[in-house]
Amino acid sequence: MQKNILIGVTGGIAAYKVVEVASRLKKSGANVRVMMTRNAAEFVSPRTFQEITGNAVSVEMFGDAANFHVAHIALADFADAILIAPATANFLAKAAYGIADDLLTTTVIASDKPLLIAPSMNTKMFDNPATQANLNILRERGAIILEPATGELACGTSGKGRLPEPVEICAAVEKFFDSGNLRGKKILVTAGGTVEAIDPVRYIGNRSSGRMGYEIARAAVAAGAEVVLISGKSELEPPLGLKFVKVEAAVEMREAVLAEFDSVDAVIMSAAVADYRVKNPAAQKIKKSADTLTLELVKNPDILRELGGLKKSQVLVGFAAETQNVLDYARKKLVEKNLDFIVANDVTAAGAGFSVATNIASIIWRGGDVENFPKMSKAELADKIIERVADLLSGDKKFLPL
Ligand code: PMT
Repeated sequence: MQKNILIGVTGGIAAYKVVEVASRLKKSGANVRVMMTRNAAEFVSPRTFQEITGNAVSVEMFGDAANFHVAHIALADFADAILIAPATANFLAKAAYGIADDLLTTTVIASDKPLLIAPSMNTKMFDNPATQANLNILRERGAIILEPATGELACGTSGKGRLPEPVEICAAVEKFFDSGNLRGKKILVTAGGTVEAIDPVRYIGNRSSGRMGYEIARAAVAAGAEVVLISGKSELEPPLGLKFVKVEAAVEMREAVLAEFDSVDAVIMSAAVADYRVKNPAAQKIKKSADTLTLELVKNPDILRELGGLKKSQVLVGFAAETQNVLDYARKKLVEKNLDFIVANDVTAAGAGFSVATNIASIIWRGGDVENFPKMSKAELADKIIERVADLLSGDKKFLPL
């Protein structure tokens, strides 16, 4: 495995098992560096990891000038992925809330690389609602959590909380790098709603939360793609391991999309792009005076339609947010925008469309085939969309005539 793996060791008794993890990863061809908390260094000497990996081990936030100019940034940049093993309850809490009070946690927060976490602790600590909530936060942000094993624990009790065996941890790391059916592909995803200024205070927006698009971006990262997520308004945390570009208005989104278009293999436009913008947004806050106020709107560029005209080999996927005649209107958009497939959703249906965690969608293919999906989580729908994009890019599914 020709990868740079940064292992973060936190202060649990299972730290000794991670010596074997580092050794196995190194033998598989990876360039392994280790960073440790001070507590971890009470369990295993940094020198042990240094001898095993052939690289200096970082523990202290300051005073590592011999190895790095700014250690936490250099370590974050070095890594293709970060593996935290064992991950203590304390680490999970800090990582979930962005606390950076030592070299290890500061490196984690300075990194946008994929994060694999192998928790290990006493069963009650693992089952504690605080720990479970922290794990959920990290999972939602895209971290891969390696489930602890069940068995005898160092504290003398038995239950869930054992660090998985080194061979299993290494298999999970290898799987992460090997399994992606989008490995080597670059995918552009848009999400969220655009914001069209009326004046410095007010805007025209829409109900998109960004959830659908963020899930698609997460699924694309999980499938091994290099991902660019261009997002309009959204309160969500972007998933880890991708390039994140924040925009406001449709014209900004167009510029950001066009800047990436030539270098990507596929574009999935789930953003809710405003069709119109205010012709002349006021420079100052509009004062309340007359009983009515008229805003003149002009058409925004149709980004996806423009991409449909520019398209060379890229796979193009659109969404259709409809309130009636869903399949007919979606089919029209598929043809007009020269798409490979379109994901149609009735945004008035219960459990579908804006903001909610689920969606009910149909995929209409170029060529006419339709796949109707039952209500499912946006995460599941995102996986299905990404599988289909991967099939098109690998040639398993043919590009069809319109
Ligand atoms: O973000 P969530 O809260 O999770 O909600 C998800 C969603 C409802 C926003 C999503 O499922 C969805 O339907 N997204 C598309 C919203 C939309 O703008 O649909 P549309 O039918 O108006 O546009 C058709 C397609 O053209 C879309 O891919 C859109 O991104 C694109 N478009 C639209 C207008 C425009 N000026 N430029 C565009 O590129």
